[in-house]
Amino acid sequence: MRRSVLKNLRGLLTPDPRKAWVVDRIPGAAVAVEDGRVAWIGTEAHLPAAWADAPVVDGGDAWVTPGFVDPHTHLLFGGDRSQEFNRRLHGVPYTQIAAEGGGIRETVRATRTATVAELVAAGEARLREMRDRGVVHIEAKTGYGLELEAESRLCEAYLELKAKGWSLDVTLLPAHDIPTEFAGDPEGYSRLVAEQWLPELVHRFPGLARYCDVFIETGVFTVEQGRRIFQAGKALGLQARVHADELSWTGGAELAAELGGASADHLMFCSEAGMKAMAASGVTPILLPTTTLFLGMRDWAPARKMIESGCRVALASDFNPGSSPCLDPLLVLRLGCLQLRMTFEEAYTAMTLHAAQSLGRPDLGHLHPGAEATVLLWDVKDPLEWVYWVGGTFRPRTLN
Ligand code: NIG
Ligand code: FE
Repeated sequence: MRRSVLKNLRGLLTPDPRKAWVVDRIPGAAVAVEDGRVAWIGTEAHLPAAWADAPVVDGGDAWVTPGFVDPHTHLLFGGDRSQEFNRRLHGVPYTQIAAEGGGIRETVRATRTATVAELVAAGEARLREMRDRGVVHIEAKTGYGLELEAESRLCEAYLELKAKGWSLDVTLLPAHDIPTEFAGDPEGYSRLVAEQWLPELVHRFPGLARYCDVFIETGVFTVEQGRRIFQAGKALGLQARVHADELSWTGGAELAAELGGASADHLMFCSEAGMKAMAASGVTPILLPTTTLFLGMRDWAPARKMIESGCRVALASDFNPGSSPCLDPLLVLRLGCLQLRMTFEEAYTAMTLHAAQSLGRPDLGHLHPGAEATVLLWDVKDPLEWVYWVGGTFRPRTLN
């Protein structure tokens, strides 16, 4: 049994998994750790006698927190879209660029020509940057291959990243867009994905993916086509995460609830019925405010209404080359507070506890007993500074 006590902490900040939206702040805290798990938290003055002889780790007067969990990323892709971004700055809409064959399809071209080694190298650089900013676990999607072999190479790259020790959950997203080979035939493509590609990818990479996703949007896939793919996924043991109601209302949130999905994501145009359905069925709404910012949209997701409807809202980066080239969890937190009108405690819970819950990880996103002891140390007077010093750079220290 390996035991230690983390002492000399300015404070401890953690959501409480037993109470909705409650964030505990313990000044002068100590954390007792046994075999990599949190065994006890409280004030140093109240450390139980049983821990008196355990080896001490010095926290250096920092605030200790759990790591951030990012439950929606498109980690792996080739190329970038800085030129397209500049066209948007000159007034060309995102939807027009997509209609002209750019957008997601531009990244698909670059991803199809990338080798597995190139994808892994790019993925590691991005994961390192996220880790240095406090992210300890992510969800990561395929979806820039849009053909079986290219989607398969993305799975191979994720397998390699996991083997290198990166903590990530994989989501299959071959229905991220309609590939040029199937232009005008989303029906035929959605059948191919449901009937052949998902089973084949699961067969080639057993146990790799836990989820599947579909971009349900006007001009992309309909709710019916999404339902077909998600049902095929369910039969293969993949739970649904849905790109839903991002640019218009399509009923994606309602579909996620109907299917008992893990999450519905984006939701700028979510209906009130969709919010109620998600609350009732335990679907996590995952809001992606850096996407709203980067697309220059005015329609921020209705976080307050969702919270009032009883939803356990989570926040994520949506890291991708087109609508959110952002690896910074603190920008997501800041926009959660400043644009989605969440309190600091709500936005923080959304990026830790609720993000982890959407990925079925009760051991992440908090520091109550039983949690994984992947702790971060922050040299701040108070964690509120992350948002208050709005352009500030904050990097946590880790113990290993
Ligand atoms: O989550 N909405 C679909 N997918 C991405 C955008 C992808 C891209 O523009 O490359 C998103 O916003
Ligand atoms: Fe996305």
